[in-house]
Amino acid sequence: MQLSPELQKQLIETAIQARQWSYAPYSKYRVGASLLTSSGKIYDGVNIENAAYPTGICAERVAIFKAVSEGERDFVALVCATENGGTPCGSCRQVMAEFSLTMRVLIVDATGKIHLETTVDGLLPGAFTPKDLI
Ligand code: THU
Repeated sequence: MQLSPELQKQLIETAIQARQWSYAPYSKYRVGASLLTSSGKIYDGVNIENAAYPTGICAERVAIFKAVSEGERDFVALVCATENGGTPCGSCRQVMAEFSLTMRVLIVDATGKIHLETTVDGLLPGAFTPKDLI
């Protein structure tokens, strides 16, 4: 499945809309993510914080885990939306790399402006992947 301009727009809108469901009472940093699978489905995700701080989870991983828990394994594109166009953390990059190094990744701000357009390989060069576990 290709990422057409229409699909890209839909993914960006989905990630921005998802931010409203972010549970971020501590950082107040709302993050929304959207993930396009090769089957054409779009999964969204938000960051979910916790009073025990390290227990929280990022929006990108929520979107990926939702998809994986429904049997999806093949991902085409992921959009991450924040107020200011912040980039995915190292843990999220590693989780992305588990499934694809070629998946497109777009980083947008709350207005939909694209701050970065790259791939998982661009975000995490030399990633440790399942292929390393012979
Ligand atoms: N966060 C994400 O959800 N995704 C990122 O890519 C970076 C950080 C969340 C984690 C935490 O809830 C808040 O943003 C501040 O770090």
